[in-house]
Amino acid sequence: MGRRYGCKALMVLSLAGCSGVGNPAASGPPLSFNDYVVRHQAAVQAAQLNFSAGQLRAALRIVAQTLLNRDATEFEMQTAVNGIAAYSATVQSYLAGPDFVTNQIHYYQNFFSLTGQVSGVDYDEPAHLAAFLSANDHDFREILTAPYCVSMVGGVLTQGSCSAFGDAAAQAQQGAGVLTTKAYLTGTRSAFYFHRANAASTLFACRNLATSPDLQDHGLLVNEISAQLKTFNCTTCNPACYGCHNNLNPRASLFYAFDWMGNYDPNPTDPALAAQTDTGAVSTVADLLTPGASPRFLGRQVSSVQDFAKLFADNIDFRDCLAQRLTNILLGRQPTDPLVPELQDIRDHVVANGYNVKKILLEAATHPGFVAR
Ligand code: HEC
Repeated sequence: MGRRYGCKALMVLSLAGCSGVGNPAASGPPLSFNDYVVRHQAAVQAAQLNFSAGQLRAALRIVAQTLLNRDATEFEMQTAVNGIAAYSATVQSYLAGPDFVTNQIHYYQNFFSLTGQVSGVDYDEPAHLAAFLSANDHDFREILTAPYCVSMVGGVLTQGSCSAFGDAAAQAQQGAGVLTTKAYLTGTRSAFYFHRANAASTLFACRNLATSPDLQDHGLLVNEISAQLKTFNCTTCNPACYGCHNNLNPRASLFYAFDWMGNYDPNPTDPALAAQTDTGAVSTVADLLTPGASPRFLGRQVSSVQDFAKLFADNIDFRDCLAQRLTNILLGRQPTDPLVPELQDIRDHVVANGYNVKKILLEAATHPGFVAR
């Protein structure tokens, strides 16, 4: 190859001497926010420029294993030891290749615990959407907001319609990425659809509501939660059901627009298609909410899974969870493991990186907290 990696080749890094980022003056007027950012970048760059060949080699080996599921070739390692710019360019070539996409599909099949074709349901729809977003530089919030689905057509991830919807208009108005795929809806169905609501939080906010209630979201007033069948509105029970069900009930109620089989089907009455309580009775929204109460999420009224998903995708828990998961991929850790302290600033840059998975992974893979680990 023999190619030299100039400043232009670098998406994220700007090397001293290339970009004109100088050292801020040591004295003078107080530093502006921007000055702090520049100073911080200079420190990060200085650390990066000092990486040893051994560190770059070891880091590239881990990146190849965790993102491509293969070993780095000797040629790739010899390229990467030429310095952080060459290392970064090698990582970028990994992110641009087909092995990255294949590996993302496998990661998400495991992550969602959904794969294969069973009784006409494409259980790969969630993993395919996630891998499509990563591979094509989409904003990853579309995992919750995409009004389209993705399937594998002739070996290519291809945008198309979603199996949960019978018509394009309903899909446009109700589609909410993974949350409205038939695979997700059937895979997480349960009495009252609490599991559908909790899985969304567990997967995308890294918060299991059964062990870690969402205290930011006050949900409904106690008299807005239905007292029918169950004591969801009980404040004196131990544990106080209301403490969690105040926001779980409104979220779950939105999922009643999708039947037991995962089809968009507002308020089904056929017991074969409707959710059922533990006594076998057809369960309806009235089991969760007092008639006339409007579901709310973080104080905002929401009337569909799509409404909820748009707010949820913009929430800080979603951002933090994405940073946690992506850095854990690189570190070979479990999705539920907390973000390691050395890489905390990856989380703070998710928005600046446009929720772009490749940019976030590249930043993490070139971070001193990773390379010099
Ligand atoms: C710490 C939070 C929390 C508290 C307190 C709590 N719940 Fe729940 N509950 C949940 C979550 C989360 C789920 C969904 C779990 C899942 O993912 O399947 C759930 C599910 C349920 C279900 C559905 C079970 C099924 O059929 O799938 C019922 C019924 C229920 N809760 C009733 C109650 C009652 C009654 C109380 C009070 C005695 C209570 N819960 C207290 C969080 C809580």
